[in-house]
Amino acid sequence: MKNFPLAIGLALLFLSPLSAFQGVSIIPKPVSITQNKGTFTLEKKLKIYISSEEIRQEAELLNNLLFVTNWKGYPIERLETTADSNFIFLKLDSNLSSDHEEAYSINVSESGVEISSQTRTGIFYGIQSLRQLLPPEIEYTDPSLVPKNIVWKIPAVEIRDHPRFEYRGMHLDVARHFFPVEFVKKYIDLLAMYKFNRFHWHLTEDQGWRIEIKKYPKLTEIGGWRDSTLIGNYGSGRYDGIRYGGYYTQQEIKEVVQYATERHITIIPEIEMPGHSTAALAAYPEFGCFDKEYSVATTWGVFEDIYCPSEATFSFLEDVLDEVIELFPSEYIHIGGDEAPKKQWEESSIAQEVIRREGLKDEHELQSYFIGRIEKYLNSKGRQIIGWDEIMEGGLAPGATVMSWRGESGGIEAAKMGHDVIMTPNASNYFDHFQAEPTDEEPISIGGLTTLKDVYEYEPVPEELSEEEAKFIIGSQGNVWTEYMHSGAKVEYMAFPRAIALSEVLWSPKDSKEWIEFLDLRLTSTFERLNILGVNYAEHFDVKRAITR
Ligand code: ACM
Repeated sequence: MKNFPLAIGLALLFLSPLSAFQGVSIIPKPVSITQNKGTFTLEKKLKIYISSEEIRQEAELLNNLLFVTNWKGYPIERLETTADSNFIFLKLDSNLSSDHEEAYSINVSESGVEISSQTRTGIFYGIQSLRQLLPPEIEYTDPSLVPKNIVWKIPAVEIRDHPRFEYRGMHLDVARHFFPVEFVKKYIDLLAMYKFNRFHWHLTEDQGWRIEIKKYPKLTEIGGWRDSTLIGNYGSGRYDGIRYGGYYTQQEIKEVVQYATERHITIIPEIEMPGHSTAALAAYPEFGCFDKEYSVATTWGVFEDIYCPSEATFSFLEDVLDEVIELFPSEYIHIGGDEAPKKQWEESSIAQEVIRREGLKDEHELQSYFIGRIEKYLNSKGRQIIGWDEIMEGGLAPGATVMSWRGESGGIEAAKMGHDVIMTPNASNYFDHFQAEPTDEEPISIGGLTTLKDVYEYEPVPEELSEEEAKFIIGSQGNVWTEYMHSGAKVEYMAFPRAIALSEVLWSPKDSKEWIEFLDLRLTSTFERLNILGVNYAEHFDVKRAITR
């Protein structure tokens, strides 16, 4: 495919059946779209109808979305049957039969728009698709920027839609670098537009502890700050000497959780253990195995510091988790479990005594014991754990969901054992990798190469799984580790458009994906929205390069 000529690519594009849907450009691609004759024009006399009070919040979000078409907002009224003209009718109907809770349908006629679903979430997704049927100028928040004579036309279409996977996630590491609440909300807004439903918030690390815990204030007073940060590539040996840090107060966390909930996104907090815990140990060294001074890490990598498996440590972690579960209603709590070197446990009399007491074979079984205890504790509070695939070493905790990142083999093994799996293999789902050849034009990154096409073509269900085993693959996630992302703008550059490609992997029917049509029609069109939304996406969508790659 190296010299695949551009002309053939363009010919394919021309022949693509989706080219029939000029003007309909929705990402992720819906299950079915039927385009009819005519359009609906949104005018000032529009009314938003709701079938029940339960979906007033969604109607208000719709009103916010339509702000530049009428800054006064449209009236929101109850309506039980049908509307005549100039309406958007949000119809929550529990009698609709669908196997998919998040399914929705949209009917646009010349007189109005009807969005139906059996759930509030489905109504919300219908609104996100309607948003993408409107001209991109709908994304402005300042009416004075909208062209004066714009007509808010929506093509007459019928859409039936539901997601392929239940778990559709994006992750953000706020520990290597810290991002303020305003940025986190912007990130959540973008995820919601592309129908992601999980935000994995990576809150603790060697380089910083980012969540206020009232019982242990030093976690943020001390653990939230580092003295310096590595400059340039790993191993450069150069440091900026600038104190760096920050954290979210519990009030801010509540605000973000509420914001995400309104956008039908569940936040899964990650509290890392037993490794990646240097910042916590800098604040409370008594939970380490050795009487030594720990300091918040100033460079990247895997560190030997690890929580000691003492009763005091378990009490501490249970106290921390008590506050975490108060803040996050998520069924899942992510407890990390990755990259935990066992050297300190090998050398610690406390760790060795636990191994002896519990009849464990080695330090891997000790990690399994550690994770199992935490799982039991969280289960007793009605929560489930997710861990990185290392939690399988030494024995997998009974109800754990595995996040497979070192390729897919951990996920395959876990699915065969009957555990739920979220696929996030580093080759295709690590958005901290380069997304184009690392030339001088590319900003510094951790390494690796994961192109937009690699993401788009990713298939989360491995062939080696039987149909029954495949059911344990509940979805997939894109990971955004921020060692080399110092600003929100850089996060946007690395995450977009790769997250957009992933949204289609997660939502759209497997056999409906079409790379060239995605790349050239819908991605180009969604960029017009992102330009208005001020998103610093990477422009790696050159057709020639994308085809040859
Ligand atoms: C990981 O990337 N260490 C989960």
